[in-house]
Amino acid sequence: MSSCVKTPVHSPIRYAIFDLDGVITDTAKFHYLAWKRLADEIGVPFDEDVNERLRGVDRLASLRIVLERSPRTYSAEEQQALAERKNGYYRELIQTITPADLLPGIPELLQALRERGIPMALASASKNAPDVITRLGISGWFSAVVDAAKITRGKPDPEIFLAAAKLLDAPPQQCVVVEDAQAGIDAAKRAGMRAVAVNWRGRLEGADASSQGTQGLTVDMLLGT
Ligand code: BG6
Ligand code: MG
Repeated sequence: MSSCVKTPVHSPIRYAIFDLDGVITDTAKFHYLAWKRLADEIGVPFDEDVNERLRGVDRLASLRIVLERSPRTYSAEEQQALAERKNGYYRELIQTITPADLLPGIPELLQALRERGIPMALASASKNAPDVITRLGISGWFSAVVDAAKITRGKPDPEIFLAAAKLLDAPPQQCVVVEDAQAGIDAAKRAGMRAVAVNWRGRLEGADASSQGTQGLTVDMLLGT
């Protein structure tokens, strides 16, 4: 894993906010399978490249991206029904999640941050986030959890990270966000926070530090020290 750290811009960092999907655990594979099943049923081409565009994007906005290749249009009610159908498929798949599904390096990183006394929050575009972190056995690690059900505007709007900071009682400039989506990096910067990218495909831009995967994440990288 390669990584790079740019000059710190928002030190001292005293709080950490984590995205869930693609940072704590790899749910992208389940989202892929669920969207693929739906797309096959309605005759829409769907592949890994389209799935990559769905990282960090909320459910209905994701559906609109999936439907870009649809031969027909869908009413708002039909879109709602399609999104719910996909979510049913996704929920079947996440029943298999266990603590073994934490991404490499994440348990050690959370432990190290706790030992440094860094309060942590989770900020996820997924309405399934509370269920997923329960299955991962990590609910107790976070002082606050903000999911899509608690906000009105999705990433790249900064609302979700500002809400997490508020729950932590933290000034935004003392927060670091760990993200695997461009929309999430953009949201963190718009919130005035330090942004660390989990850059699985090497395409993310604008972060203060970057790691090719979760294994390369370190406390120093997060804190900018
Ligand atoms: C994000 C994922 O965390 O949550 C997206 O990166 C997903 O791919 C979004 O579409 C919404 O998830 P859910 O569970 O509310 O459908
Ligand atoms: Mg993500």
